[in-house]
Amino acid sequence: MSIEAIAAIQSAGKVFYVTAGAEAESLIRDLNPRSESLMPFYGERKARKTTYNEMVEHVLASVYAGVNTCVALYGHPGVFAYPAHEAIRKARLKGFKAVMQPGISALDCLFADLGIDPGISGCQSYEATDFLINKRMTDPSSHLVLWQIGVLGDTRHMAGKHDLRAFPQLLERLGTLYPAAHKITVYEAGMRINERARTLHTRLSALLPGDVTPASTLHIPPLKPLAAEESLEQRYRFSTGQGIVHK
Ligand SMILES: C[S@@+](CC[C@H](N)C(=O)[O-])C[C@H]1O[C@@H](n2cnc3c(N)ncnc32)[C@H](O)[C@@H]1O
Repeated sequence: MSIEAIAAIQSAGKVFYVTAGAEAESLIRDLNPRSESLMPFYGERKARKTTYNEMVEHVLASVYAGVNTCVALYGHPGVFAYPAHEAIRKARLKGFKAVMQPGISALDCLFADLGIDPGISGCQSYEATDFLINKRMTDPSSHLVLWQIGVLGDTRHMAGKHDLRAFPQLLERLGTLYPAAHKITVYEAGMRINERARTLHTRLSALLPGDVTPASTLHIPPLKPLAAEESLEQRYRFSTGQGIVHK
């Protein structure tokens, strides 16, 4: 958490939270005892969208009652986190001041743990179901990150494994972009203090639904570097006196 995020939690009249583990939960409760978990809104096989809308209304009831309200969500509260954006949107619509403090997303952890600099080769990131059903355009010469691969095509909340019957379709789509032997990583950042990341390094053709959990993010490295267009590169060097292409 940033210093601003810690200060926001400490100074709030009420804190609502969704954490990814007991340590984070007790940290928030230590920072502010006026804290309440939003986890009870989840239900087995309950549509996540329903849960999220209930969370939003619950949080906003506190805001509308005039309480200085803070919502703490695991990772970055604005990354794959509909309730945060929706609560802010609705609060502002009614004239309340609402701000978002950034956090450390799973993607930030992935860059650190897998030693990837998105400034080299670029990095595309999609929600896995969205990537599949909307046939997102990708550039195989950049990194590809697929979020929520462990809940692919399943809009419900489940405590255990999800229905991953769409998994073969995702593999088929990826198979049109990468060779079967392309190396990929199923990544899970550590969620407790000093816990190491869980990484499964495998080949695209060997990836199985049983390899992923709802906390998994898939990383696919670049296939091949792009050849920089010489004329543009030279023009850029000419106009600025410096180069931009890593070779
Ligand atoms: C609803 S999104 C929440 C993301 C979160 N707000 C963030 O900033 O990381 C859940 C997805 O985030 C990713 N995720 C969550 N926890 C993770 C972890 N420990 N390691 C890797 N990816 C994780 C997975 O793709 C998972 O399906």
